Amino acid sequence: MSNVVIIGASGHGKVVADIVNKSGDKLLGFLDDDLSLGYEFCGYPIMGSVSDYDKVIGASFVIAIGNPEIRERISQSIKAPFYTAIHPSAQISGIDVAIGEGTVVMPGAIINSGAKIGRHCIINSAAVVEHDNLIADFVHVSVGAHIAGTVTVGARTMLGVGSAVKNNVSITSDCTIGAGAVVVDNIEESGTYVGVPAKKVI
Ligand SMILES: CC(C)(COP(=O)(O)OP(=O)(O)OC[C@H]1O[C@@H](n2cnc3c(N)ncnc32)[C@H](O)[C@@H]1OP(=O)(O)O)[C@@H](O)C(=O)NCCC(=O)NCCS
Repeated sequence: MSNVVIIGASGHGKVVADIVNKSGDKLLGFLDDDLSLGYEFCGYPIMGSVSDYDKVIGASFVIAIGNPEIRERISQSIKAPFYTAIHPSAQISGIDVAIGEGTVVMPGAIINSGAKIGRHCIINSAAVVEHDNLIADFVHVSVGAHIAGTVTVGARTMLGVGSAVKNNVSITSDCTIGAGAVVVDNIEESGTYVGVPAKKVI
């Protein structure tokens, strides 16, 4: 059994708390820099700000913050083990799958054979990451987003709720794919893409 501390007392953190509980691990509490939150969040103590992590002995940490740049910055500042949170209802192939440390896999997500997921990613509720996908660090595959087979997604890219990506497509780093967008061609320039087929708007 691991002792776990969640960084980020937010709605997302609340869902990660449930994953820790359902995994049979022990949630010690939260760390958050927002002092206005007080001392308690969803029944667990707020133990301090993020920089207080080194006062917690023997715990592993999971960063429950949606913004990928903040997730990346905090991950670089913490010199302690990271906890990989996988909900028991997630369907993860037993063949050639790798999931990096600190990644969160939410209820009902599917990760199929040969998929490689980086560090500190979020594979959100009911998302589908199909076979042989290469998902880089800090990527967020939002609720119900579907990625077909053999897709590459670059670091810090966010695929919005209900978006879809055609098979054999490559999406570069630092993109936002809008809610409901459908990516049918390679995306080589970072930016925001919306619509069907997805087009760059920012
Ligand atoms: C694409 C997105 C990032 C744009 O956000 P934004 O920069 O704040 O843009 P706005 O909301 O001001 O919208 C700007 C325009 O784009 C349109 N637009 C916004 N999102 C869109 C989308 N997903 N698809 C199509 N059009 C969209 C708006 O209708 C608006 O059009 P208008 O100028 O004709 O009125 C955002 O709308 C989005 O889809 N985010 C994904 C969020 C998400 O999935 N979160 C998952 C959490 S699990």
